[in-house]
Amino acid sequence: MNTLTLDLGAHSYALHIGTDLLDNIEAYIPLSLEKRKVFILTDETVKPLYADTIMSVFKAQGALPFLLCVKGGEESKSFSEFERLSHEILSHQVTRDSLLVALGGGVVGDLGGFLASTLLRGIPYIQVPTTLLAQVDSSVGGKTAINTPYGKNLVGTFYQPKSVIIDLNTLKTLPVREYRAGLAESVKYGLIEDVSFFEYLETNSARLNAMDMEVCQEIVLKSCETKARIVSQDEKETKGKRALLNLGHTFGHALETLAGYTGDVLHGEGVSVGMVMAAQASHELGMFSQEDVIRLTRLLRALALPVSIKDLGVSVTPTKMYTLMCGDKKATKDGIGFILLDKIGQARLRSDLSEEFILKLIEKCMELD
Ligand code: NAD
Ligand code: GLY
Repeated sequence: MNTLTLDLGAHSYALHIGTDLLDNIEAYIPLSLEKRKVFILTDETVKPLYADTIMSVFKAQGALPFLLCVKGGEESKSFSEFERLSHEILSHQVTRDSLLVALGGGVVGDLGGFLASTLLRGIPYIQVPTTLLAQVDSSVGGKTAINTPYGKNLVGTFYQPKSVIIDLNTLKTLPVREYRAGLAESVKYGLIEDVSFFEYLETNSARLNAMDMEVCQEIVLKSCETKARIVSQDEKETKGKRALLNLGHTFGHALETLAGYTGDVLHGEGVSVGMVMAAQASHELGMFSQEDVIRLTRLLRALALPVSIKDLGVSVTPTKMYTLMCGDKKATKDGIGFILLDKIGQARLRSDLSEEFILKLIEKCMELD
């Protein structure tokens, strides 16, 4: 078992990474559970797999657990589900010392975090991520959100959990397509700040494809270390550091929105293609070599991830995609903020790309295989 600390002064918390953690989850919650109301939010797929285990632990600890469930998928990160769940929790007379536990992937984590941050102006919560994507990224760092028709994650808060409990055993039930989507976010860490991690992923792609648990543990650990370091330097994304974690996301979110949040394009798949588009943009701006664009594409392909708009099969027009990107959270009065690459292991934010350049880039990427 490994325990990392996300260092945020008074709001610091632990990330516990290991196996069989759900069986004694109370050991990783820094709050007494006796008589505490615990709202466990999960989705219909995760509920039959893991909810019983943690419900019984909470009961055995003298807590009063309530199970809340969403259908799952991006459509659950909505105003209507937020309203329904708020009412359900309020109907059980939630108090400021109640606890919310987000048990599931990034959808449950983002929605659960948003609920926790707004109910009674904030109740404590714990992240228990069960997808690779949530374990390497979304459960760490306190970004919470719901989606809107204008774009993904446009309504949300920064609100840190009390701890993150990563039980790697949960990966064993994860569908392979979801697992691969999580690998995309791991590739991102290598690209933005750690060339040796990128090389590790290249060297171990076959073991990753076989879901070798030793390699999975290593990538979760490394990804969490990197994310914790970045978030501790720039919790609210105001210093240009945390924004780097959005590599590929400006393009990826637009592709997800165009696909309609229906599961046709998973978040990690949008990010995978978005990273290639960001690499291509960086190359055309003279920042990033063609060899490195090819090297990135090769790694993503080796992990059976999509690398082009054609791979995703989304119907795109450059103007529609551009309009969506203008609503991205990194857009300012100066333009859309893009995370671009200088080399593998080094990225930076630029907001000076012209509309003409971006439209041409999208057009070009629509032709690429
Ligand atoms: P998800 O939550 O939809 O989970 C994917 C699917 O896997 C769902 O169908 C779920 O029911 C199923 N599932 C979950 N755990 C399982 C398990 N152990 N076994 C079997 N099935 C399981 O999607 P995701 O990829 O985990 O998360 C994507 C979301 O995360 C997006 O909404 C994205 O915007 C968000 N995100 C947030 C941050 C952040 O910093 N807050 C970062 C990255 C992504
Ligand atoms: N996933 C981007 C962030 O947490 O900042």
